[in-house]
Amino acid sequence: MTKHRVVLISGDGIGPEVAGATRAVLAAAGAPLEWVERHAGITALDECGELLPEETLSAVREHGIALKGPCTTPVGEGFTSVNVQLRRRLNLYVAVRPIRNLPGVPTRYEGVDLVVLRENTEGLYSGIENEITEGVVTSLKVATEKACTRVSRWAFDYVRRRGRHKITVMHKANIMKLSDGMILRCARKVHDASFSDVPYEEVIVDAGCMRLVQDPTKFDVLLLENLYGDVISDLCAGFVGGLGVVPGANIGDESAIFEAVHGSAPDIAGKDIANPLALLMSAVMMLNHLSETRGDARCHDAAERVKAAYDRALREDDKTRDLGGRLGTKAFADAVIERL
Ligand code: NAI
Repeated sequence: MTKHRVVLISGDGIGPEVAGATRAVLAAAGAPLEWVERHAGITALDECGELLPEETLSAVREHGIALKGPCTTPVGEGFTSVNVQLRRRLNLYVAVRPIRNLPGVPTRYEGVDLVVLRENTEGLYSGIENEITEGVVTSLKVATEKACTRVSRWAFDYVRRRGRHKITVMHKANIMKLSDGMILRCARKVHDASFSDVPYEEVIVDAGCMRLVQDPTKFDVLLLENLYGDVISDLCAGFVGGLGVVPGANIGDESAIFEAVHGSAPDIAGKDIANPLALLMSAVMMLNHLSETRGDARCHDAAERVKAAYDRALREDDKTRDLGGRLGTKAFADAVIERL
């Protein structure tokens, strides 16, 4: 039987450690995958002299699917984010981030089952910043009808396909009437035209943050423009155990890149203490995506086995330090492999 060729971008910082652990689990689970290794980020700069080599982009275009570790971006100076570039150049217009409580990971909140959908290609992440004159800078927030409509359509379709209950659009259109107003107008139009059966609400993002923190179980699927989606994803990660347990996917019409919500965590890189679970969970999402889009039941089976194995490991208290356990990155991968 053929294997699916998947581009693997290990990334920077803890990326190679969590990618190595994820690979080991997937191999032990018999996932029908063949890795095509490519670089991006600081690692690519060292290896190929470029942050985002053309051969990485063309490999993702060719195979249509990638698993990616985090890439470092310097703060306040230096190059444009490789992650933002990848999403924009490959037109991966929606980021999907499921946020759920995990067995054996008690937190202040129970029963959390949220999905954050983030517009991934525009907003303030367009990177159009200028120094008008010394001491005065501007940053342009871009909102197009095209991008807001396509992400809205994808979101409503997702709710219906997955049997979810409700979409909440979070915005600040009371202040940014045109730019944040755009996603509202587009979401309303898509809702009224084709998805009027899907419950839909609009919440101003600051009040939405307060309501989320009071009771995240009141929400189901959140649709946000790029910056709010980035911030709210990390906020919601805090409900279920932190950045070590939140997976993600960047999806477009031609390709998809699966990656954890967390970054390259330079503070813990190279110490074998990072939690590989978020990337492993992203790999499970990837296997399910392969099963749905290519009709390969073997991918679904492997996804189910991996999920059952990490759920058991957590329930039996085999956890990494960020979750109050004692295992390192490799030892956690071994604990999952033992339970496959
Ligand atoms: P971060 O997510 O890397 O780390 C925030 C905190 O969470 C740190 O204390 C870190 O140790 C902890 N943490 C993150 N992942 C963890 C894991 N798997 N296991 C245990 N603890 C974990 O965010 P930060 O520090 O703001 O960013 C570091 C770098 O990562 C920056 O250069 C940033 O631009 C980049 N970044 C890349 C992303 C991507 O490639 N998709 C996403 C977010 C940030």
